[in-house]
Amino acid sequence: DALAASNAFQRATETALHIRSKLPDILQSPKVAIVCGSGLGGLADTIEQEPKVELAYGTIPNFPQSTVQGHAGKFVFGLIGPHKTPVALLVGRAHFYEGHTMDAATFATRVCKVLGVETIIVTNAAGGLNQDFAVGDIVCLNDHLNLPGLVGIHPLRGPNIEDFGVRFPPLSDAYDLDLRKQAHKAWKKLGLDKQKRRLHEGVYAFVSGPTYETRAECRMLRTLGADVVGMSTVPEIVVARHAGLRVLAFSLVTNSAVLEAGPRGDDPTIQAMNKAELDQHLSHGKANHEEVLEAGREAAMDIQALVKQILSDLYEA
Ligand code: 6GU
Repeated sequence: DALAASNAFQRATETALHIRSKLPDILQSPKVAIVCGSGLGGLADTIEQEPKVELAYGTIPNFPQSTVQGHAGKFVFGLIGPHKTPVALLVGRAHFYEGHTMDAATFATRVCKVLGVETIIVTNAAGGLNQDFAVGDIVCLNDHLNLPGLVGIHPLRGPNIEDFGVRFPPLSDAYDLDLRKQAHKAWKKLGLDKQKRRLHEGVYAFVSGPTYETRAECRMLRTLGADVVGMSTVPEIVVARHAGLRVLAFSLVTNSAVLEAGPRGDDPTIQAMNKAELDQHLSHGKANHEEVLEAGREAAMDIQALVKQILSDLYEA
């Protein structure tokens, strides 16, 4: 087809060349990309030293714009840690629920690959389904349920782009065990195991959103083996693994999904409640975006320290 649009590899290459034209020599080939989830943009402050180059997504050719509050939408390039590892931070991401295609939602990941990134660290805000997880805890992902993907809404659907990877990529080892071991070691090394917030491992269920889950959906996802649920990350990870990147991912548990069945209209106790009592009863556990951002602000420091320590251990001379 002579009119076929350029494929994602060609577009990512064009974008990477543009980005490189804005970067000093020392930042031309970032080794690690870090995707900052809701309220985790503070990770960008981890880059204290010069050079530091910020590129707003709006100024980058082919780049999708993100529209969510708390997602500024910029690339930040700089050096992190004692070994001055060149990194690319992605503050804000394009979500599928915003109306972006899977192709757009994963474009930044592909640009990172073309820029020479070897490892991608993905963070997100997620709802806790595992009742052992508290709000504010962090979950190192060791597997996922790609629910939209299982029914055909999949970033690799369509002609395979051989420049990135194979037609049928395995995902049984998507979440790099060495990196997960490093993460748990770093957590201890920082003494973060001696505080209230815990670092778990678990399975992330990807749903399209934008609604939060019903109670029945939460029970279903828990039954399916999910520990956390969210609206991002999995498309990026699928595309990253297709392109051979090493993957490490963290969910910040920003709220606890409700697993109990709701109040019943035929329950005499419920029928006897006045409006105030009923409001009180119903507000329990209801997810909202404010709560998600608040948990992010509080845990951001620990996640920053954790990522910085992992990078330092990963690239120690
Ligand atoms: Cl409870 N659900 C989903 N889908 N995404 C979330 C969330 C819940 N909490 C934060 N992000």
